[in-house]
Amino acid sequence: MTTDFGTFYPPNITPDKVHGIGSWTEAQFHRALRDGKGKDGEYLYPAFSYPAFTGMTDQDISDLWAYLKTVPPSAQPSKPHDLKFPFSFRPVLLGWQILFLHKGPLEPVAGKSAEWNRGRYLAEAVAHCGECHSPRNALGGIDDKHAYAGNPDGGDGQRAPNISSHPKGIGKMSEADLAELLNTGATPEGDYVGGGMALVVDGTAKLSAADRKAIAVYIKSVPAQESTQAKKPAPKKG
Ligand code: HEC
Repeated sequence: MTTDFGTFYPPNITPDKVHGIGSWTEAQFHRALRDGKGKDGEYLYPAFSYPAFTGMTDQDISDLWAYLKTVPPSAQPSKPHDLKFPFSFRPVLLGWQILFLHKGPLEPVAGKSAEWNRGRYLAEAVAHCGECHSPRNALGGIDDKHAYAGNPDGGDGQRAPNISSHPKGIGKMSEADLAELLNTGATPEGDYVGGGMALVVDGTAKLSAADRKAIAVYIKSVPAQESTQAKKPAPKKG
């Protein structure tokens, strides 16, 4: 994953005891998703989407742990990240977490339907739609005031479009259109989403139709936002 802060190599999370997370305890796994801390309590980089996963329920984190323990172990060593100073120095992440980590679990919002709350939970905590579609500030924190306004540099340098209800976002897409896109990847114009979104659709296609509709209900309720950021200038050479 290439970012402004350097290159991240997502580590081995198979149950291999040496190279994966086979020697972790379930409590350490909970702490990683909820608090963004590694096996020995070190701060983890938010390239791992824990600012979203922190919103998951204890039960869902335990279920994920139970599942991950059953995938075949791989003895492939994780590659160290290649980061620029000072980001290479993990303790700077304490400051980042104080500013940008809003520890969960997400509590349901009173006065909203069960379907809307389910959609919010799936979109915000599990499928982490905002990790790519929301703009970020200079420190890489999500700009909550412009949620879902798009990010010219969303996940792995791809442009993630505005998916708020703005006419330049997905204002013209109906709930049914959005649920269909999450199932098949097809847009109402008869095109197919590509890039990182194709991988997301691989996942959302496996959800129940009710869960896809819940995500659509929630995302369509997000207030319209102008796309705030212009395309970033190309990085300077040398
Ligand atoms: C890994 C980053 C990433 C994540 C996570 C992600 N998206 Fe996307 N999304 C993209 C990219 C990149 C595109 C543009 C794809 C293209 O142009 O082919 C896109 C396109 C879309 C579009 C099409 C918009 C349009 O104007 O055609 C919708 C709708 C959408 N995403 C909704 C979602 C929802 C809902 C979620 C959470 C369930 C989500 N995305 C999660 C990266 C992401």
